[in-house]
Amino acid sequence: MRRVTPPRRLLLVNGPNLNLLGTREPGIYGSATLADVERLTADTAAAYGFEVRAVQSNHEGALLDAIHEAAADCAGIVINAGAYTHTSVALRDALTGVDLPFAEVHISDVYAREEFRHHSYLTDVAVVHVVGEGIDGYATATRRLIAVLTGQADG
Ligand code: DQA
Repeated sequence: MRRVTPPRRLLLVNGPNLNLLGTREPGIYGSATLADVERLTADTAAAYGFEVRAVQSNHEGALLDAIHEAAADCAGIVINAGAYTHTSVALRDALTGVDLPFAEVHISDVYAREEFRHHSYLTDVAVVHVVGEGIDGYATATRRLIAVLTGQADG
């Protein structure tokens, strides 16, 4: 059953290889680390009175478990699913299954890269979609998701 007052907490999900941020292909992903991403997201959310629980995993099932658990105590999800964006029906089903509004974010401009990155299993069910802003995209996605959650915008 839906809560009347949703918790002021977001789940931040980072998928495979995003633990390597800072050293991974810096020409594409920049030099900021996963810790920087998690801090930026938490600081952005805190400005609106939301807290953030952050998870990163290289394992698809662990990501699904974290999304399922969010249904109990989170109002929405900010997710960079990494390569699973382009491959995982299971991830899409987890997100639609818990029925939490979510923001899809990509550090790079996936549409300017290889064709296999142009398709996302998440985009058509996301309420917010941010690509190509570097790690600042996490702040944009967080602000826009909170705007949707608090009825201040439509994404
Ligand atoms: C990414 C883009 C994906 O295509 C890639 O597999 C990633 C990172 C991004 O943030 O730009 O791992 O999601």
